[in-house]
Amino acid sequence: MIVEVSGLRKSYGAGETAHLAIADVSFSVEQGEFLCIVGPSGCGKTTLLRCLSGLMPPTSGSVEVQGRVVRQPPEEMALVFQEYNRSLFPWMSVRGNVEFPLKKKMRSKAERRTAADDALTAVGLSGAADKYPWQLSGGMQQRVAIARAISYRPEILLMDEPFASVDAQTRIELEDLILKVRDSFGMTVLFVTHDIDEAVYLADRVVILSRSPTRVQEVLGVPLPRPRHQTTTKELPEYVHLRGHVFRAIMGGDQRPDENAQLRRGPHD
Ligand SMILES: Nc1ncnc2c1ncn2[C@@H]1O[C@H](COP(=O)(O)OP(=O)(O)O)[C@@H](O)[C@H]1O
Ligand SMILES: [Mg+2]
Repeated sequence: MIVEVSGLRKSYGAGETAHLAIADVSFSVEQGEFLCIVGPSGCGKTTLLRCLSGLMPPTSGSVEVQGRVVRQPPEEMALVFQEYNRSLFPWMSVRGNVEFPLKKKMRSKAERRTAADDALTAVGLSGAADKYPWQLSGGMQQRVAIARAISYRPEILLMDEPFASVDAQTRIELEDLILKVRDSFGMTVLFVTHDIDEAVYLADRVVILSRSPTRVQEVLGVPLPRPRHQTTTKELPEYVHLRGHVFRAIMGGDQRPDENAQLRRGPHD
């Protein structure tokens, strides 16, 4: 067990204006596992990742990484967010961006260079090391962000809807890239997404979250063979079945008309 989330609860603010984002979340992650966390928009996924990574304290409950309670970002953890354009430094070259977080850990410049170049090669960007982020497409910028996250060989990679801002074609390429990188770097991955297809395609297990304030609705095993392929895997009856299962779990409650909204709108809208 590399990560253990127990009875996690998180409120923003206090008193009358307190907003409960996470009601009660518990799950654990095995070493080397690819765990997807899927839930509707606004259910509390980003809040959960902030608590997992020690960026924010939970209101109650706990997160443990390798048996230690998380109170600040653990050294063995790296993060990739959706907004790649805000996470890269525009004035630094691609290589500079990837080397930057290594400064604390690696004293020798040559060592940093090797680690950065290895990471850039792993994401297929060895030819773009001297370019600047703004010279690259969105998908390539997200590859740089991934290279930066994996350059110091984290044991755990947390990703918050990392492919939500790229076009469908690029998204497919990045999904396959992250599976490959996970294999070659041997990491545990916690991957948050609202995309059901993506979750089932990537995961060993899927944690299905309910609507806000969120709870774990179900933890689903995904026993599909690896390596996975965008066409053949998605044609498997088991894939279609799992996808439908997650879809119903998430959307089931949403099919009913929202009575409050109807009352507010009135009969003529
Ligand atoms: N800093 C904050 N202060 C107050 N409420 C917040 C804050 N961040 C998020 N929320 C609220 O918490 C809930 C969960 O948000 P979030 O974790 O961003 O959801 P998701 O990532 O699943 O879309 C939402 O209702 C959101 O409005
Ligand atoms: Mg979010």
